[in-house]
This record gives sequence, C-alpha cells and structure tokens, in this order.
Amino acid sequence: MADIERHGYDVVVVGAGGAGLRAAIEAHASGARTAIVCKSLLGKAHTVMAEGGIAAAMGNVWSEDNWKVHFRDTMRGGKMLNNWRMAQLHAQEAPARVLELEEWGALFDRTKEGLISQRDFGGHRYARLAHVGDRTGLEMIRTLQQRAVSLGIDVFMECQVHRLIRDEDRVAGALAYWRESGRFVLFRTKAVILATGGIGKAFQVTSNSWEYTGDGHSLALWSGADLIDMEFVQFHPTGMVWPPSVRGILVTESVRGDGGVLRNSEGRRFMFDYIPEVFASETADTEAEADRWYDDHINNRRPPELLPRDEVARAINSEVKAGRGTEHGGVFLDIASRRSADYIRRRLPSMYHQFKELADVDITAAPFEIGPTCHYVMGGVKVDADTAASTIPGLYAAGEVAGGMHGSNRLGGNSLGDLLVFGRRAGMAAAEYAAGLGAEPNVEEAEVDQLIRRALEPFERSGGENPYSLQYELQDTMHNLVGIIRTRSELEQAIEAVGKLRERARNVTVEGHRQFNPGWHLALDLESLLTVSEAVARCALLREESRGGHTRDDFPKTDPEWAKVNNTVRKKGDEVNIEQVPLPEMPDELKTLFEEPAK
Ligand code: FUM
Repeated sequence: MADIERHGYDVVVVGAGGAGLRAAIEAHASGARTAIVCKSLLGKAHTVMAEGGIAAAMGNVWSEDNWKVHFRDTMRGGKMLNNWRMAQLHAQEAPARVLELEEWGALFDRTKEGLISQRDFGGHRYARLAHVGDRTGLEMIRTLQQRAVSLGIDVFMECQVHRLIRDEDRVAGALAYWRESGRFVLFRTKAVILATGGIGKAFQVTSNSWEYTGDGHSLALWSGADLIDMEFVQFHPTGMVWPPSVRGILVTESVRGDGGVLRNSEGRRFMFDYIPEVFASETADTEAEADRWYDDHINNRRPPELLPRDEVARAINSEVKAGRGTEHGGVFLDIASRRSADYIRRRLPSMYHQFKELADVDITAAPFEIGPTCHYVMGGVKVDADTAASTIPGLYAAGEVAGGMHGSNRLGGNSLGDLLVFGRRAGMAAAEYAAGLGAEPNVEEAEVDQLIRRALEPFERSGGENPYSLQYELQDTMHNLVGIIRTRSELEQAIEAVGKLRERARNVTVEGHRQFNPGWHLALDLESLLTVSEAVARCALLREESRGGHTRDDFPKTDPEWAKVNNTVRKKGDEVNIEQVPLPEMPDELKTLFEEPAK
C-alpha cells in the first residue's frame, strides 16, 4: 500500500473556476463533506476571460426579453444541436443565479433606473448581458471565491488530479499530486464533479492559459464516461495578434457590443459581405444605416459585427486569406472612430489597459489589430440536463467540460450563465447521490500503486523525447489541420500525426526530480492533450457537414440529418469508438417557439 497522503470526502470538485466554485458551494450547502481540488491557484480560471457579461433574460433594458427568447437565441446560435433541456433550464434559471450572485456581493453596473445593466452581444436578440465593465468573469470569481472560503470549504490548490478511481462501475476516488512537491494524494470520495474547463492548450493560438489541457474531458473518457460533439471548437473572433508574446489573449466581444466595427486593410467594413441569407433582410445595407439601427435599437436590428462568433471568425479568416488582412495576419477592430475616448475608458477599462500595457496601443485613438483565437470547446462530457450526472454513477460535470448546452456554437455570455446554473445543479445532485450511497466505495490499493508507478516512468527513461517539443508539434498540427476551416485530407493527416505523437509520448523523458518539475507536469498533461485532440479530429472527420464551430471546406452546407445526432465518444477496452447517438426530442410546446423567423 503506497505511503501517501489520504483524505475522505463525500464530494470532490475538480477545478476552481466559476463552475467548480458554484458546485462546491451547493454541495456544501446540501450537507456534503466537500473539497475543491485545483491544479492552479484558487480563482485563477478561464472564467475571467468571459469578460463581457452573464447572459440572463432579466428584461432590465428590454422589457420584451424573457426566457423563451433567450432559449430560442441559444438554440439558434448552437444551430439546433443543443440539448434542448439544458438550454431551457439555463434560460429559465440564469436570472435567479445573477441576483443570487449580487446578494453574495457582486457589484454590477447599473442602468439609469438603478437596475443591473445589460449589454448587447452577438446572437442575443436583446441586450441581456449583466456586466461589470469588461471584467464580469473576474467579479464572478471574486464573489464565488469569497463565499466558498467563508463557508470553510476545504481547498487543495496546485494539486492536480491525475486519474479517477472506480469501484466496479461507480466513482470511488481521485488520485492527485501536489505540483510543488510531486507527492501523491489519494481522495476517497463518493462523488466527483468535473469542472476543469476546456482544451485550448491543444491549439497554438488560444485565449486559454496553461491549465486548459482537457483534463476533465480525459478523466471522464478514461473512466468510461461518454463525451459528445468534440468537433465543435469555438474560435473567438477577436484575440490579440501583436506582439507575438500576447497572441491569442482575448479582446472582449463587448468592444463590438459597445459599438466597435471590423475593418479590413482597405478600411472597408467587410462584415456586410458576410451576412447569412436568413438575416439579410433584417440588417442594414450601409454603415450609416447600421449605425442608426444600432444606436436606436429600432426593431432590435443588429449590426453584422454581432452575428454569432462562428460567422464572424470565418469572415475574418476569409478576409485574411483574400489578402486583405493586416501586417500581422489579423483585421482591424475600430471603436475609436465611433465612440468617445471617455466612453471607451469607462465601458472597456480592461481593454484600454490591456492594449496600452501589452502592445503600446491606444484603442481610443485608432483601430487595432485582432484575429480569431481558440476560446472554448462546445463538446464535452455527456450529462443529464437536470442533474449534470455523466454516464458513470457518481461522476458529474459542469461548465465548459460538459457538452450539450451550447450545441455547435456558444453565444457569448452564455458560458457564465451555464456555469452558475449547472454548477449549482451538479453540486445539489452530487450531494444527494453521496447521501444516498450506503457503504463507502472501495479503492483498490494495487490500482493506486500501479498508477503512481506509471506516472513516474518519465523519470526512469533516458534519451527519450522532450514533452515541450511534443506539445509544440501537437499545437501546430491542431492549428493548421483542425482549425477554423477543415477538410477531409487535412483531418486524416491530423489523425495520423496525433497517433504518431502518441507513440512518441510513450517515450517521453523528464530530467531532475519530482519537486516542482513543470516538464514532468507537462509530460502527464500530454496524455490528456493527445486524448482530446484525437477526439476532436476524429469527430470532425466523421461530421460531413458545416455547422457552428465546425466548418468543412469539402462539405460547406449544413445537412439536416446531422442535426439529429451527437457524435458520441466512448472508450471500449483500449479502443476509443465514436457513434452517432440520436439527440433527445424537443417537446412540441418548445418547437412552436421556432415558428417565428430569425431576427
Ligand atoms: O468576449 C467576451 O467577453 C467573452 C465572453 C464569453 O466567452 O462568454
């Protein structure tokens, strides 16, 4: 029996972003002995990159707004591939979650009437993002973190979960290691909630920081849970492109929500050329007309810069490919010619400072360069909408790591609503499950010993590959062959390349010892990066159509047959299989909401 640190809980939450914190607060409130285990510092999470706001139909700016309109926007944004029940629960419950956050101390911007202010974002029919300047995610994390700490929830920081452990078919524990000492820790637990966020670090240009290596997706798959729709990866249209050291850092959609427009190197507002047919009759023909509509919100018509993210990212990509990009391979975002410097500094203080400090650019004075950046994965752990339960008893998932809610493309601001609504539901359901479980699940000690031995193997090899080179090659492969625009031959090349990288990763070598050894950490993270990359590329090859965050050059149209199924990734023995599983059927009373044309 390994001589390692051991702990016992009812519920272990893996990840300490918005979903993890919200889940832990709820599990604790439901009476479960709860711990948060996170690979980074508490509160250092991709949640803060959802800068522009929390989408919630509160009706503070537009009284016509309600959950049904939000539900419909979300489904249309996801090109109808969303789990309808998740989209419904999300639209119904998000307003209450925002008010709860305010009760817990979050300070939102206000309307003139003193209500929580709500701003415009792409794909939302009404201005509905409750916000705190352009740092809403940060305020959310600050509030949730303070609450979790004040409740006395145990937190294990810089402690990385390496594998989940099962007792027969159900969850029994999690084996982790302290990043600082390299020592292993065993958490015996009745339930695990995965809240690990996304997979951005599988790509070269990303808004995600080093933590986002697909850990939760892989832990779930390795434990036998299903993943769905991994082909859908969101490229946020606006990331920084220059200087190289900051490439990919997010430029919030609020810049466009607050009036910014996109221009190519000729100074032309090119988004008018990319208005999909369904919207064409509803949008402006000239810049002046669009300005007026935007300012007056006449019929709530939208400027084309606020089309859903997949459409804007593809348009930018096309302009750059056509030779109308900027010097550094992006396009221009222009708010300086449209809003006063005071307005920009007041509404977008973080963007103002970000560009000033990181790029020596004044966004109030001139247009600035931006380009698409890998921001979010819509695919994830298959969950039950009401409980966030995965297909493995005792395993739950909430936030970005869970699939279904956003279909093929997420609308901006829906991530923050998602993690509050489903974080809470996961916490509640996991606590209830744990309370109803009789005996503690059993952890097989021999399995723990074997996992530890395997994890330490990179120290025992010599002359093998360096994990950093492998990650670099993987990111290059995913960026060039599985990026915004995909095609059969490139996807096949990518799958082959990922397979070869996997072989080479078996021989990875790390120098030194276990104490704070980032090379070793990356060697272990590579397993999950390769797992999720393979899933993305294989699902992308199978889906012979274009939809949301998956564009096939060789299948440019949507195919109604593909709207009926989720690509479902499942481990069988040592093999990973992908099957097409029918989507849950939407009830008739919700279907009637789609009889009204898109606006
Ligand atoms: O652009 C943004 O502020 C990001 C928001 C989101 O991803 O939801």
